[in-house]
Amino acid sequence: MAGSATQSNATPQVVLSARGLRRDFGGFTAVKNVDLDVHDASVHALIGPNGAGKTTVFNLLTKFLQPSAGTITLMGTDITKTAPDKVARMGLVRSFQISAVFPHMSVLDNVRVALQRPNNLSTQFWRPLSALDELNDRAEQLLAKVGLSKERDAIAADLSYGRKRVLEIATTLALDPRVLLLDEPMAGMGHEDVGVVSALIREVARDRAVLMVEHNLSVVADICQQVTVLQRGEILAEGDYATVSADARVRQAYMGSEEG
Ligand SMILES: Nc1ncnc2c1ncn2[C@@H]1O[C@H](COP(=O)(O)OP(=O)(O)O)[C@@H](O)[C@H]1O
Ligand SMILES: [Mg+2]
Repeated sequence: MAGSATQSNATPQVVLSARGLRRDFGGFTAVKNVDLDVHDASVHALIGPNGAGKTTVFNLLTKFLQPSAGTITLMGTDITKTAPDKVARMGLVRSFQISAVFPHMSVLDNVRVALQRPNNLSTQFWRPLSALDELNDRAEQLLAKVGLSKERDAIAADLSYGRKRVLEIATTLALDPRVLLLDEPMAGMGHEDVGVVSALIREVARDRAVLMVEHNLSVVADICQQVTVLQRGEILAEGDYATVSADARVRQAYMGSEEG
């Protein structure tokens, strides 16, 4: 389907969408009939019990896995058959685990390296004289944005767990993604860091879309405008948190385990 360049101020723009997404592993269907619309300038949560297919959906959207059926559209362009590195260059970026941070480098140098990545979406200027200053300026700006300015010279390995995750998100933001996918960004974090990262995600979603898998439902209630609930690979419910959490089927899915 061709993308339309027309802008509407009334309705939020859909930047990433999936229709009829399906993935089979041998005889087992991990994801089926998944329709998803992720809007610009919003935080969208993908939740559901363990094994529901959340990570598989992320892998399909980022093209790490090829769908068995269905289509994926990024900003009006069909990316169903597009290679993952190209999808990343088009602006759909997934935050990886903490290993994305170089532990022996300073916080500032980690961000500088990220800004220099070959697939950095920002223009690679041919301005040799000012290039270094510009890089430093952008690195400082990014650190300020995520609240890591004070730790700029600290060695990454010496940061607390939560601050490392913040640094990791900063290195992802260096790519200036249009759509940012976060798989359990709060996992293993203490209460204070959850607050810091929540605020950061809310802030970065002001001018991009964020799709996140999150188990902490108070975080979902706090920062996510849209919630999609998966169960056994299918969408069980969808809507804002109030709507979804009042749904009897969702309550049931979250009570007791899903053995069988
Ligand atoms: N590569 C794979 N091969 C076979 N089965 C898989 C594979 N990846 C995931 N699955 C299965 O698909 C289901 C969904 O997994 P996953 O997407 O990781 O769930 P979630 O992230 O919601 O916990 C699980 O039953 C899992 O065992
Ligand atoms: Mg998972």
